[in-house]
Amino acid sequence: MINRRIKKEVNRGKPFEIDVDRERILAYKGETIAAALLAVNKRTCRWTNKMKQPRGIYCGMGVCMGCAMVVNGRPHTLVCQTMATPHCKVQTQIGSGKPSYSALWAIRRVTAACKIRDYPKDSDACAR
Ligand code: FES
Repeated sequence: MINRRIKKEVNRGKPFEIDVDRERILAYKGETIAAALLAVNKRTCRWTNKMKQPRGIYCGMGVCMGCAMVVNGRPHTLVCQTMATPHCKVQTQIGSGKPSYSALWAIRRVTAACKIRDYPKDSDACAR
């Protein structure tokens, strides 16, 4: 698993796990969910309702609504303003906020196909 946190001279304490789309990622006390997501390079928080476009963390201060996710069953939760807590359950928000794994997997398949066909290999244009 990718860990983009600064490692030298930082004492974060004991990590705990949070559940993000059925994957367990590590977070530390005092971190927002957004910080934990960025640390593992997960950049898509939600998919727009009409255009099925990905949105992610942009402003980091509760203004842009790009980071709205379903947290513990509650849709439209801004993860840049929400502290990670042990065993919290975070889901990518599809449209209006009802998490649907079948829709999520369908979008991921389309995104993967889009990356292969239309973008250079190192581009993450589909994941913004
Ligand atoms: S990143 Fe803009 S509201 Fe959270």
